[in-house]
Parts: sequence; structure tokens; C-alpha cells
Amino acid sequence: MSEKFTSVHYHTYLELDKLLDAQHPRSAALELVPAHDEMLFIIMHQVYELWFKQIIHELQSISLMFEGGQMDEREISVAVARLERIIEIQKLLIEQINVMETMTAMDFLDFRQYLFPASGFQSLQFRIVENMLGLKEEQRLTYNNMPYDIVFSGEQKERLKAVMEGKSLLTHVVEWLDRTPFLEFDKFNFLEAYKKAVEKMLQKERDAINATDILSDEIKKQRLTMVGDTGTYFQAVFDTAKFEEMRARGEVKFSYNAMIAALFIFLYRDEPILQQPYRLLSRLMDIEELLTLWRNRHAQMVLRMIGRKTGTGGSSGHQYLKSTAQQHQIFTDLYQVATLLIPRSDLPALPEELREHLGFHFSSK
Ligand code: HEM
Repeated sequence: MSEKFTSVHYHTYLELDKLLDAQHPRSAALELVPAHDEMLFIIMHQVYELWFKQIIHELQSISLMFEGGQMDEREISVAVARLERIIEIQKLLIEQINVMETMTAMDFLDFRQYLFPASGFQSLQFRIVENMLGLKEEQRLTYNNMPYDIVFSGEQKERLKAVMEGKSLLTHVVEWLDRTPFLEFDKFNFLEAYKKAVEKMLQKERDAINATDILSDEIKKQRLTMVGDTGTYFQAVFDTAKFEEMRARGEVKFSYNAMIAALFIFLYRDEPILQQPYRLLSRLMDIEELLTLWRNRHAQMVLRMIGRKTGTGGSSGHQYLKSTAQQHQIFTDLYQVATLLIPRSDLPALPEELREHLGFHFSSK
């Protein structure tokens, strides 16, 4: 064994003296009768903060992989594995709310008055996670017309600023998709082939509506208009100017190329080389979904704990939290891609030469 290695004790390695001496219920310090559940309240938050730390650690490493430029299959697969770890942690974070709810609203009232104005609003790490994923300041709901970082000290603001100056996961993914080759290959123009397939699919839908004798003429007319609306949405994908208008209105965040590349990956995900990119995009959707689920779950728990009271941090409480679940979404463009998917049976066949490029080839020679 190298001389550098000294033996270590479980207790010292984990710095348990520090960790286990960090729970100081205020009710015990300020009241004659300490509130029993305040210990749970403190430990719950501390456990969350530790998991946020781990999530930040994973996001930082994924960000570094993207910064290296061209990501190869191996790196994508490591990035996917780390996203999967974040996903498992997120599931725990949602599950843990059940433990919080073993405290009743009345138990909470035993010590809530000692918490003002402390609040989850002041969780720096939660804001860092949101920013690292790609939540933009202009997208955030404000409360009392104040910037979201007003609750932080100068040093904490600097940390947040540094995160905002770096590239978010959303930006990395958009740039990575932007670089995707294969969209135009020799005689195969993906967009043209896709456009024909969409027209064919929409025509099939119109024919099916016209052919049925179950629907009245009026309902048929309505349904045909709806197919027309879907068609208009597809048109935006074929028209870069329309797409840019949508981007200017904030309806999409991806660049045009990134959106088309994501569409290509989703449509042809069975091709070996596209499987890892498809997994990566799918994991981002999982993260988005779980974050939204956590927001809703936390809002529901808050309703149970404090009803319609305002929060200790000064927001409208439950109402504010419910609205963030809708408005603070990040990878929404991946859901736009779902709108653009067409059935496998209508999918344009890829030229053999391109399929070879998208496959893995093993040779015994
Ligand atoms: C009895 C339990 C809890 C109650 C009643 C509660 C209540 C609230 C309320 C009312 C808000 C809105 C801000 C405000 O006005 O204060 C909030 C925000 C927040 N809470 Fe909780 N909370 C509880 C437990 C937790 C736990 C265990 C965590 C884990 C870290 C947490 C994390 C957060 C975060 C990160 C925010 C900011 C959310 C955002 O702005 O999008 N909360 N909480």
C-alpha cells in the first residue's frame, strides 16, 4: 500500500460530527416545549440539499462532456447513465414528500411562526439546478415584482451569475443537435421526403373522415378543420421564416436545425447510431417530467399543510407553486417534436448507403 494512504474511520470519513450537529430546531431554542416535528422538517430539507448537490455534480460533468466538442458514442452513453442517475434521485425526491406528509398541518403550526422569512425560495442549489438545466430568468414567474435572486447574498448571487454565464444543458443539447449530420445526404433530402410523408398521412386522415358514415356532416367539417390546423403546424416546420417567428414569440427554444435533427433522431431511432442520441433526448424528457411532477407534488403538499395561506417567503403559496409547474418547463421543444411524429408505416425509407452509415458493422477479418 502506498504511504500516502492512511486508514480512515467511517465516522471521520463522512464527517458525521459536522453533519449530525447541524440540526437545531428553533422551537427548542425559543420555546419551553419544543415542537417534535421540527426535527423532521430540518432533516427533510437537509437531505434534499444533499441530493441537489449530487445533481449539480452530475450536471457539471455532463456539461464538461458537451464542452469537449464532438461527443462520441461512449461519451453519450456516459452522459445518459448520469442523466439516469439524476432521474432516480428525482424519483426519490418525489417519494420523500410522503415522509414530509406524516407531519400534519397542526404539527407544522407548532413551529411555523419561527421560520419567517425562511423559505424554499432561498435554496441556492435548487436555483442552480434550474439554471444549469436551462431555465431562463425572463421565463420565471416573479412574486411581488422582485427578481428571483433578491433573496441571495452577494456571494451567492455571484455563484448564480457564474452558472448563468456558462452554457446550460439546454444550450449544449441544441448546439449538439445543430451539428447532427445526415439531414442531407447525396440524393436524399430528409425534409422533402418527410414533407411528402406528412401530406400522405394527412390525406389518409381526411379520407378516413370523409369515408365514415358514423359522423354527421357538421362533425366531419369540424374534424377536417382540425386536420387543417395540424397541417398548419407542420407547415411551420417546412418554413424557416414561420419557425423563426415562433422562436421570436418564445414558442420554441430550439434552433431550426436542432428541431429538425431531433425529429430525425425520433423518427429513425431504430437505426443503431441514433439509439444513444434518442436515449439522451428521452432522458431529458424524463427529467422535465419528473421536475414538473415534483413541483405539482410539492404544491399539493403545501396546500395540505397551509391551505391558501401565503408562504413564509412571501409568495401566494400554493397558487404560485402550481403556476411554476406549467411555466418553468425547459425542454418543451422535445414535446413539439412528438407533435411532428408520423407512423412508421408512412416513414420515408432511407437510402441503403445512408442506412449503412447509421449502422454498426462488425467484420471478422
Ligand atoms: C411543510 C413543508 C413545506 C411547506 C409548507 C412548504 C411551502 C412552500 C411555499 C409556500 C413555497 C413558496 C415560496 C414561499 O412563499 O415561501 C415553497 C417554495 C419552495 N419549497 Fe417548500 N415547503 C415545504 C417543504 C419543502 C421541502 C421539504 C423542500 C425541499 C427542499 C422544499 C423546497 C422548496 C423550493 C425549492 C421552493 C421554491 C420553488 C420555486 O420557486 O419554484 N419545500 N415551499
